Formats: sequence, structure tokens, C-alpha cells
Amino acid sequence: MPAIAYVNGQFVDFAEAVVPAEDRGHLFGDGVYEVVRVYGGRPFLLPWHLERLGQSLAAVDIVNPHSEHEWVALIGEAVRRSQEAEATVYWQVTRGAGPRSHAFPAGAPHVTLIVRPFTPSPASQATAVLLPDERWSHVWVKTLNLLPNVIAKETARRAGAEEALFVRAGVLTEGSSSNAWFVRDGTLFTHPADRHILAGVTRRFVLHLAQQAGIPVCERPVGVAELSFMDEVFFTGTTVEVLPVTRILADPDALFWQAAALPADRPATLVRDLSRARVLWERTGAAVSGVAEQLQKMFTQAVERFRNYEDVL
Ligand code: PDD
Repeated sequence: MPAIAYVNGQFVDFAEAVVPAEDRGHLFGDGVYEVVRVYGGRPFLLPWHLERLGQSLAAVDIVNPHSEHEWVALIGEAVRRSQEAEATVYWQVTRGAGPRSHAFPAGAPHVTLIVRPFTPSPASQATAVLLPDERWSHVWVKTLNLLPNVIAKETARRAGAEEALFVRAGVLTEGSSSNAWFVRDGTLFTHPADRHILAGVTRRFVLHLAQQAGIPVCERPVGVAELSFMDEVFFTGTTVEVLPVTRILADPDALFWQAAALPADRPATLVRDLSRARVLWERTGAAVSGVAEQLQKMFTQAVERFRNYEDVL
């Protein structure tokens, strides 16, 4: 069975999985989600994902429809039914369905869950492009409203890059679907887990790995102006794991990345043309096999231990 879906309390054939047209996820993006990796048939770091799901639901005042125990059982059952050892589980909780009206309706939340086989991208390094972080001020909540992230990823793809690196008021925040890390003289820097980034589960695990390895960590905003002093840059996320960056491109005409505030003019399209983008930062040979690769290796080893039912924390 290649993929499995669970919609409103029932496992259904993937092709049969439909959600109501008036689900508030469709109408308003009124819901939150999680994505977990399955290695060797077991969901990785699931308790941390469930903890964050609870925080996201509480933030938008949707009642958590399940206890942690119920979530673990449901996700375990979905993975078992899928018969997939290497997969992702995506699930979302919306505010339910009802006639379109902005204020919250009465009624129960809707859960949709999908298990899909997952093959990691063969790319072991990435190019990033700087793009303005035009998202709302609560990106720490993992909401369904990913239009700015989707546009940023597509803009990056069209520029030949794998990821967009967001800049907010001159500060590097995170990727469009990953957290961003910087290394200078052996010290790790990453944006604090405040309202301007998603507190990644992989970020949390990599902080733990860094502590184990005795790598000094500084959780503070890194300015674009500091980029030229950085030896290494990498992204982390459930699907990319630890992904070293080799080059960062930026459009020299679009000065948003230097400015404290975004310009007020309206661009004709939000999928920006980056054909004039130039290399703003590049990893030098000296940084190869640096801290990013060390953490990448530690991450892979932890996953191997997890597959063998050993402790990873
Ligand atoms: N995205 N920042 C953003 C904006 C993200 O969307 C993600 C993950 C992360 C990393 O979080 P984590 O380590 O918990 O995966 C950071 C998921 C994978 C997605 O939307 O598909």
C-alpha cells in the first residue's frame, strides 16, 4: 500500500480521501499541522512534534482532539497500515467545517492525516537565496497558512536554488521550510526560538547534538551584515535533516536585505525574478568537513541508533 489517509476518524483509500468543501482549512487556512519522519517504521521525535502541536492548537484556540497517548496510537496505526518503513506522516487539525463566516463556529475540529513513502533528496548540500520575510508575526505557530513560504520556495527553485533564506529587518530568520544555522570560529549561531521562527523539532535535536559534542551555541539573531564573517551555513528540518549550504545568492537591486523595513511599494508579482541575483556568500574550502558535516554525521548516526531501537536522547 503506497500511501494511506485518515480523514475524520476513518482510514480510507488514498484516492477516496476527501475533506468537506466547507472545512475551514480550505476556506481560511484555519488550522495547524505537523510533519514527522518515519525511519525503520517508527516516527522520529514524535513526543516533541506532539508538544509543538499542542502549542500551535492552544495559540489559535482549537481544542486538541486527542491526548498524547491517542495521537501516538493513531500515528502508529497509520504507519502500520501503510506498511512503509521510510515515510513522512503529515497531519493537520482544522477548526472543522461550517458555513463561511470569519468568527469561530461551534463544532469539533477535523483531523486529516497522510502517510507517504519518503525518499530523501540525493542533494547533500544546497544553494540558498535571500528573500524578504513577509510572513505574519506568529510564524512560531505551525499554521496551514504557508502561501509566503510556498512562493519563497518557488522563487528559490526558479533561481536554481534549493531553499529561500528569509530576512526580516536586516536579520536572517529561517528558511522557507527549515531553520537556519551559522558557524563562526567553531561557534554555532541560530535565531532564538521566538515568534519570528518556527521552533523546529530538528533544531531542538541539533541543539542537543551540539551540546553532546561540546560545540558552543549562541541563540541570537544574526544580521545579514554578519554573513560575510560566517564560515558555514546550514539548514535543518524534518525532511532535509542537516543540509549544508554552499552559496547564498541575493538580488543586489532588491535592497530589502539591508533595510530595517520593507519598502511600501507593491511588486507586480510576489514570485520575484532573481535573474540578477549574485553570490553574496560562499563556503570556502577550509569550511568543508566543518561543524555542519559533523552535525550531519551525528544526526545520521542517531537515526541509525533509532532504527535499532536504541535511545537517541
Ligand atoms: N517544515 N521552519 C519552517 C518555516 C518550517 O516549515 C519547518 C518545517 C522548519 C523545521 O521544523 P522541523 O525541524 O520541526 O521540521 C522550520 C515542514 C517539514 C514542512 O512544512 O513540510
